[in-house]
Amino acid sequence: MEPTEQPRNRITLEDSVPHTPLEDTATARTALVVVAHPRPDSLTAHIARLTTRRLTDAGYRIDLLDLTAENFDPRMTEADLPDWNNREKTYSPEVESHMRRVLAADVIVAVFPVYWMQVPAILKGWIDRVWNYGFAYGRSKPRLAGKRMLWLGLAGAADDDEVVGLMQQALSAQLDDGIAYYCGLTHSAVGLLPGAEEKPQRLDADGTLLLDEALTGTARDAHYAALEARAAGFVDDFLAGERVAA
Ligand SMILES: Cc1cc2nc3c(=O)[nH]c(=O)nc-3n(C[C@H](O)[C@H](O)[C@H](O)COP(=O)(O)O)c2cc1C
Repeated sequence: MEPTEQPRNRITLEDSVPHTPLEDTATARTALVVVAHPRPDSLTAHIARLTTRRLTDAGYRIDLLDLTAENFDPRMTEADLPDWNNREKTYSPEVESHMRRVLAADVIVAVFPVYWMQVPAILKGWIDRVWNYGFAYGRSKPRLAGKRMLWLGLAGAADDDEVVGLMQQALSAQLDDGIAYYCGLTHSAVGLLPGAEEKPQRLDADGTLLLDEALTGTARDAHYAALEARAAGFVDDFLAGERVAA
């Protein structure tokens, strides 16, 4: 890509929307925002910043965990394999420090691109290594009880592609039921954001990937404004649930 060229789906809306954080450091609750994208100028990173601003405005202290920037290694290691006979096992220093960050969080929001109907490998590896036996599961009194989680997934499929319903079901089964419920979290929701690509994608009846015409001009602006509004709506609904739960 030429240096002057814009990344392909970079959106032009300003990231620095003014806001007035309500944080009271003595009482603020903590939100762990986990970002799983290699590009800081990606749409995913932009939505993560939007999410962070909304959480800050709602009074949360933010712990931003950018998995790529922090060089998180998603590969399982021998040190981090569970010992089924010892749920008090001490894991690697890296994993133990991530466990402390998870424990310190009242809410966790993961923002990621959907890869193959799943979370990307770096986020999956974070779950595999950090959400470990004796910490996240395997106790009659779950340590993660009381925590709430939002999974915000961006997808290249066009908004009206019928795969979107299937993707929502698949992600919810994996993330809400397979992980959050299993670990005793109080609440978990998946906010799926299709239409993330400038050229929306769909499969035809023969399985060929079709790229729609690239969005341009006001249609493009409106498209990404709507995607942002949906993301903000997911965060606001999540926060409203927090107020009901409190
Ligand atoms: C390895 C890979 C797998 C992908 N799998 C899917 C998929 O299963 N469904 C889908 O709708 N989009 C899929 N996409 C498209 C991404 O979700 C999309 O490019 C991304 O959300 C755009 O946001 P970004 O610009 O922040 O990366 C995939 C992209 C990659 C690179």
